[in-house]
Amino acid sequence: MTVEMRTDYLVIGSGIAGLSFALQASKTGKVAIITKKERTEASTNYAQGGIASVFGLDDSFDLHIKDTLKSGDGLCHEDVVRMVVQNGPERIRELISLGVHFTLEANHSDATENLELGMEGGHSKRRIVHTKDKTGNAVEEALLQRVEEDKNITIYEDHIAIDLITQSKLIKKGIVTSESRETCWGAYVLDVQAEQVITFLAKVTLLSTGGVGKIYLYTSNPDIASGDGVAMGYRAGVKVANMEFVQFHPTCLYHPLAKNFLISEAVRGEGGILTDSKGNRFMEKYHPLKDLAFRDIVARSIDMELKKSGDECVYLDISHKDADFIRDRFPHIYNTCLKFGIDITREPIPVVPAAHYMCGGLLTDNDGMTNIGNLYAIGETACTGLHGANRLASNSLLEALVYAKRAAERSAQDLINNKKFGLSKAPIWDSGSATDIEELVVISHNWDEIRRLMWNYVGIVRTNKRLERAKKRIDNIQAEIKEYYWDFTVTRDLLELRNLALVADLIITCASLRKESRGLHYNLDYPEHDDVHWKRDTVIWL
Ligand code: FAD
Ligand code: SIN
Repeated sequence: MTVEMRTDYLVIGSGIAGLSFALQASKTGKVAIITKKERTEASTNYAQGGIASVFGLDDSFDLHIKDTLKSGDGLCHEDVVRMVVQNGPERIRELISLGVHFTLEANHSDATENLELGMEGGHSKRRIVHTKDKTGNAVEEALLQRVEEDKNITIYEDHIAIDLITQSKLIKKGIVTSESRETCWGAYVLDVQAEQVITFLAKVTLLSTGGVGKIYLYTSNPDIASGDGVAMGYRAGVKVANMEFVQFHPTCLYHPLAKNFLISEAVRGEGGILTDSKGNRFMEKYHPLKDLAFRDIVARSIDMELKKSGDECVYLDISHKDADFIRDRFPHIYNTCLKFGIDITREPIPVVPAAHYMCGGLLTDNDGMTNIGNLYAIGETACTGLHGANRLASNSLLEALVYAKRAAERSAQDLINNKKFGLSKAPIWDSGSATDIEELVVISHNWDEIRRLMWNYVGIVRTNKRLERAKKRIDNIQAEIKEYYWDFTVTRDLLELRNLALVADLIITCASLRKESRGLHYNLDYPEHDDVHWKRDTVIWL
């Protein structure tokens, strides 16, 4: 049975992007937030380091812009960088007014507004606004609290978006006849508990579904990061850009029982040093900024060290710092490591790189609008031009905040334009002759195969041959999934698998197109930059 719901704004995702947008949008209309698990299950909730913004007395917008451009290795859009950086302090102040408690400098401060500023790789100044080492959790909780108090916003947990409802789908079903510009009118959504597909009609739809880390065997990301927004957008005809630029975080905890636990770059910002298993430092061999070099360089250097030595991990050592300082500055990392038997005040932490952040995504303009009418994409799902070929640390939460505000302001206009929107007949989800899936093991096998092949063939270092192999395998897996997708009733696992396979394909396609090495994309067959042909975004669409 299909149920129909109507709202002004349909927000897909409850991380920093979706929640910030919802709080702005609720000033002009009714907002429905759908989120595929519990409301707090988002990368946002796990963010550690903080939010980059200019508050330091010795800092300036120009320096933050310069660092971002340098990190992006020639592909950042300078106008976007300038706009985002300049909007930063205002968005941070807004977060404070919404109830986020950032860590303050106790005695004296080198920052305006007494904020304690952290340091991370690639930043030439201290500029990371943070709440100890649990910044994301502080932001998520405060935003959720405000959202829950807002009478114009409703949150639907355990609701997973399946696909967007577009004008061309409505034409196909004979519901509308107009051939106007492609437009989005909401999404089909699976209510996981009720096992029921809802036709969610909306005047404005926002994709804020986060990242794609679960495509890789090892990742810092939570389980929700299966690239659903990018996959849905691509299937609907949204342009996708720069999917080859997958950021690997250099330091995730290496321990058989630890799943996805990050050791923040802020640890290196406060003096943490990377060493090999014999205790030798190695970053000075690779970059003058040593342990605080840009993230692509540090991750690649670790990868090289591991290949040379045959070791399973390298080590991050901060034990030379005062123990009270470590416990106070990094309570979450200290306590979590201690649970795994590692006292970081006394011994080095075993670490490895892991997939962390997608710099590419759905291509948007400077207000987060896609090439489809009424459809916006912000946060990690989007590719705005800010990050270029390698995101500067802690610029992601900042980007989400800035674009949430701009997208909400712009889409308020769409709401006015679509005032009269009302489909007499709702487009019903067609489940055909689907039956319940019998062998769930098929899904987990395919999922496992994708994550392994992406790790082995489309990881930190790539070659043409590895990419070709990956393409062949992903084509086969996609064909298999296509076969059983329409035969079985949809479940969260099946939907995620379909999206995961498609997004893996998009990454392989973009990586195969770029015939050079730049930022996070390193191909041994083309080890240099090719500024003549490739100083541009990789843009693909269906
Ligand atoms: P998310 O916060 O991931 O939210 C996505 C939401 O979409 C979730 O609620 C999810 O359930 C929902 N969703 C997904 N698919 C569907 C679907 N089909 N239907 C319904 N709902 C769906 N960045 C920084 O700037 N600073 C940091 O210090 C930092 N630290 C990090 C630490 C970790 C461990 C990780 C993983 C990331 C970190 N990042 C950091 C990156 C940053 O946290 C993310 O890029 C950012 O939080 C993304 O926000 P978002 O709102 O776009 O997505
Ligand atoms: C970290 O704390 O190291 C994560 C920062 C980021 O991904 O921007």
